[in-house]
Amino acid sequence: MSELLKDKIAKLNADALALQAKSSAELEVLRQKYLSKKGEVSLLFDEFKTFPKEEKAQWGAPLNQLKRLFETRMQELKDQLADSPANRLNDAPDLTRTPDPIALGTRHPLSLVREQIIDIFSRIGFTVADGPEVEDDKHVFGMLNFAPEHPARDMQDTFFVEKENGIQKPTDILLRTHTSSVQTRVMTAWSKALNNDPENAPHSLRVLCPGRVFRNEAISARAHCFFHQVEGLYIDKNVSFADLRQALLYFAKEMFGPETQIRLRPSYFPFTEPSAEMDISCDLCGGKGCAFCKGTGWVEILGCGMVDPNVLESCGIDSNVYTGYAFGLGVERIANLKYRVKDLRLFSENDVRFLEQFQSC
Ligand code: DAH
Repeated sequence: MSELLKDKIAKLNADALALQAKSSAELEVLRQKYLSKKGEVSLLFDEFKTFPKEEKAQWGAPLNQLKRLFETRMQELKDQLADSPANRLNDAPDLTRTPDPIALGTRHPLSLVREQIIDIFSRIGFTVADGPEVEDDKHVFGMLNFAPEHPARDMQDTFFVEKENGIQKPTDILLRTHTSSVQTRVMTAWSKALNNDPENAPHSLRVLCPGRVFRNEAISARAHCFFHQVEGLYIDKNVSFADLRQALLYFAKEMFGPETQIRLRPSYFPFTEPSAEMDISCDLCGGKGCAFCKGTGWVEILGCGMVDPNVLESCGIDSNVYTGYAFGLGVERIANLKYRVKDLRLFSENDVRFLEQFQSC
């Protein structure tokens, strides 16, 4: 028996000296093989327990030595692995990283909604046009068919810009009260292009005019002295009210979901004839009627109509040849419907607790 044990110890000694591991997983396999409860070294100890007393005295020391040899070899291998180039690379600082973590910002809900509106209409050929916020009476009212003494002018409480030398009120310089003013600018520019270079001028006009507008209102949860609109305008030969309805139905479904229904109610705007206001089915109650839609099943979202021939003519467009539609929607209104923001003031107070809720997509 002792010869057999001697051989086993010699073989395991040789094994211990030859141990190699390229990874901690490999090292663990070796530990299991030799030192775990059922490992080869441990089994020798189990065998040792069955020896008669006199033999125990002979084999105790070499067995302990063998076990210690394995433990030291394992520790050496472990230290080697920790110090390996691969490990050192992982621990090394990444010099391309910024010193402090960068908190990712979020986009303003009004920007998100405006971009979405533009995206939806751009898919049916609309491009974006821009115009000034400080405007003159002519572009905001006059060319849009507001007669000088027309009561419609009182519909909008306007901020007039006072002249520096002596106060003259009202001046004809004002903060635009709606983005419809941009219509007059793009239509005038287009009619000039048509006259100057009929060959190369675009044969129709299809624009969106997003922007900020101003009204002299007391600030509250439901009204503000500035807010945002997107104006839409399409002028071509043979544009009809059916085209308008179809474009708006497409928009409503894209913006609020495929189940959305629209309804057009007759209304009045000086610059469109006929005019309408558009409601969408309330997406909270699915049109059944709830507190949000005041029991009607519908919520109002925009004004629209066929561009009044007087407006076309004031911009130099022949109303016998061209017709068109226009619509104007409030960005805050759409954002309210999408995100249920109850207080308009949140949009301009820059409270990060509010803004952080809108993750950029
Ligand atoms: N300008 C209107 C407003 O500010 C909105 C509007 C209504 C625009 C009808 C339009 C339109 O182009 O056709 O309340």
